[in-house]
Amino acid sequence: MLPQEIIRRKRNKETLSEAEIREFIAGIGNHTVDDTQVAAMTMAIFLNGLDRRETIDLTLAMRDSGEVMHWADFDKPIVDKHSSGGVGDKVSLMLAPLLAACDVYVPMIAGRGLGHTGGTVDKLEAIPGYNTQADNTMFRCTVKEVGCAIIGQTGNLAPADKKIYAIRDVCGTVESIPLITASILSKKLAAGLEYLVMDLKCGNGAFMQNFADAKTLAQSIIEVANGAGTRTGAIITDMNQVLGTTAGNAVEVNEALEYLQNKNINPRLDAVTKALCAELLVACGHCADKDAAARLIDTVLTSGKALEKFAQMVAALGGPTDFVEHSSRYLPQAAHTKPIYAEKSGYVSAMDARAVGLSIIELGGGRSIPTQKLDLATGYTNFAQIGDYVDASAPLALVHYQDEAQFARAQKYLLEAIKISDTPVEKNNPIILTLA
Ligand code: URA
Repeated sequence: MLPQEIIRRKRNKETLSEAEIREFIAGIGNHTVDDTQVAAMTMAIFLNGLDRRETIDLTLAMRDSGEVMHWADFDKPIVDKHSSGGVGDKVSLMLAPLLAACDVYVPMIAGRGLGHTGGTVDKLEAIPGYNTQADNTMFRCTVKEVGCAIIGQTGNLAPADKKIYAIRDVCGTVESIPLITASILSKKLAAGLEYLVMDLKCGNGAFMQNFADAKTLAQSIIEVANGAGTRTGAIITDMNQVLGTTAGNAVEVNEALEYLQNKNINPRLDAVTKALCAELLVACGHCADKDAAARLIDTVLTSGKALEKFAQMVAALGGPTDFVEHSSRYLPQAAHTKPIYAEKSGYVSAMDARAVGLSIIELGGGRSIPTQKLDLATGYTNFAQIGDYVDASAPLALVHYQDEAQFARAQKYLLEAIKISDTPVEKNNPIILTLA
């Protein structure tokens, strides 16, 4: 069938057959479907949805658009986590080495920034030489030797998702449950995982802004993934504020590094990272229960074993062999840093995390067109958390920027995005619900 006819059927709220879905996705690979048609189809799906069967068919067609990896010759569980996307979410950078240090394998296929959210691949590209496009041989060797490897989608792994993802990013078709399900799972199923945990972000900085939508997306992902043979659970976590104290690219790599070095551990980031690690260690049978998992995670973190795994992964994937020791020599630095102060002193009571994400795009740290080259040095550090007291000496954040026009825009965003209360505000637990 002609691609425009398939689009037309979805536009008219009809149910697509498996053959139509497969034909459309195959057309992306063999260039009989072009970018304008992909954009139109994602908008039709965004507006009219897909039922569960169509979502499964789309996921599997996208998975099969490239190579599907197998790990039969690996003797430990093959595990991974994926986040539905947030602001300041650098969990993968810590979780992968932590789990490798616990002695399970983590072959992680991560994404670039999407919409207002940051992407792990963009963050890792702040490390000079780090090859986020490693081929499958390099990827496998790194997982075998180190225990973990985080790379982006190479041309060969779910290439249809790579194309659709880049188009959704700039066409306003991100926040769709079937599209997010198929996007995440096509990559994860192509990576041949045995166990997956989803970090389902919920709040104003997430694609799912309310609990009901986050739960529906979690259930969609759990059902589709388990049906395809990858045992999957999900934790719904709070995304109503920046996760951790940094947001950007290089600045987030630095926060992850400091976490693994046992300095500057942000309690919310720590809770989310450890909960996801524990979930996987129990699901794959490596630990008997969550307490045993928590003890193991603490041991590999405090002993420095997880930091060692991070250093080994960076070196194996082409980054500097002394990155951990001399990260400040390697990570790009913005021309200027300056604090932004609140207009009155008081307690941070609310934050529009999406606006913070958009301000990072304005700083050049995220994309407004698919081919945009990012400025990996810009972003925020020392980001205040809900419940923190801010005043003339305690800023809302420190901006890393290149010119004064950028600073002025960032300041405007943050002053509008962050609310201040005269009375103390309680800090919340970022873990909302665990679903298996
Ligand atoms: N992460 C993905 O990989 N895809 C989405 O659509 C959203 C988050």
